[in-house]
Amino acid sequence: VTFDLVLVGFGNVARRFVGLLHERRTILERDHQVSARVVGIVTRRHGQMFSLKGIDAVAVARRVERGESIQPPALSSVEFVRDAARRSATAAHERRLVVVETTTLDIARGEPAIAHVRAALSGGAHVITANKGPAAFAYHALAREANRANRRFLFEGAVMDGIPIFNLVRETLPAVAITGFRGVVNSTTNFMLTAMEQGRSFEDALAEMQARGIAEADPTLDIDGWDAAAKTAALANVLLGARLTPRTVKRQGITPDSRRQALEARAAGRRVKLVARVDRDGRRITASVAPESLPENDLLAGLEGQQNAIIFRTDLLDEIAVVQRGGSLTQTAYALVSDLVTIARENVVSRAVAVRRKTTRAIRRSRS
Ligand SMILES: NC(=O)c1ccc[n+]([C@@H]2O[C@H](COP(=O)([O-])OP(=O)(O)OC[C@H]3O[C@@H](n4cnc5c(N)ncnc54)[C@H](OP(=O)(O)O)[C@@H]3O)[C@@H](O)[C@H]2O)c1
Repeated sequence: VTFDLVLVGFGNVARRFVGLLHERRTILERDHQVSARVVGIVTRRHGQMFSLKGIDAVAVARRVERGESIQPPALSSVEFVRDAARRSATAAHERRLVVVETTTLDIARGEPAIAHVRAALSGGAHVITANKGPAAFAYHALAREANRANRRFLFEGAVMDGIPIFNLVRETLPAVAITGFRGVVNSTTNFMLTAMEQGRSFEDALAEMQARGIAEADPTLDIDGWDAAAKTAALANVLLGARLTPRTVKRQGITPDSRRQALEARAAGRRVKLVARVDRDGRRITASVAPESLPENDLLAGLEGQQNAIIFRTDLLDEIAVVQRGGSLTQTAYALVSDLVTIARENVVSRAVAVRRKTTRAIRRSRS
């Protein structure tokens, strides 16, 4: 199958995604029968372009990296998605149209990412995203809309980059209930806490994360715990059926005073970590993000630098821990590639079901 991709957002993640698709094209075609071409790109300040003939996205990425614009914007980003879906009606009908949403996280409402997802689904496109906003603010509504449209809404890259979390549960844990979890899900704050234990200052540690492009564009999203709260809400909504938003997660971030706490904890054989927690008590689900002093033998206490981990509590398998040893842009871009392969696999299944239904109907008709 050749997918037609509309890229909404063409920043670090989207540019690495087109590079990775290109680098892995042989294996994707040979082993997964997946190929893809970009037909549309829309950004906030770098312009937009659309071509049914296909766009050389790797070349456009180089231009954007040199600071050049694509083409002057003619439409708002939401109108662009609607228009792209209309112009790609054939690909949409054949379930080959995919909108790749990688705009910046909006912590107030998750917009306009949610509007991008809606416009894509109503135009017959599948949606894949690395943006936490849609699953954190509107998971249930968007999942319903995707179901109604008979298209997929996938977001593996929203939590722990390319390490399978949502895929792991969906694909490998049938009939298992997740009853809660705790984890370290923000790399910037874990790096800062580790650095401060070694005597570095809060400002110095944050500056390093910004210089390395790991901190969010607005670093208060990391240090005030918003990024972790958005991931917590997304995980709880998807895996526990909660109806949270980042704003309903009880939240405390880290401050320059966390350095003193980290040093004191270390001296007492403990470590301070920014811990995300979700617990279910009957129908009630509580969620929080806050610094905690953990004993050194706790799996979360062992996370160094940018490492992340989540420990899920389940009803059948006790605890399952997933650890991310190192995160990178390539890992986030890989999450989008894996979502694309998931859609390709499911397209094969739905085509097979459609053929079987058609055959059954034909047999019934011939018998009557
Ligand atoms: N970087 C990571 O390692 C990582 C990891 C996991 C998840 N994520 C998530 O992935 C998403 C993308 O991250 P990134 O690092 O690629 O961000 P980025 O480099 O800042 O790129 C964001 C892109 O979105 C565009 N954009 C922002 N608002 C828009 C709007 N309203 N309409 C249209 N385009 C808009 C920007 O346009 P301009 O180019 O004109 O500014 C830019 O092209 C974010 O939601 C982030 O939280 C990132």
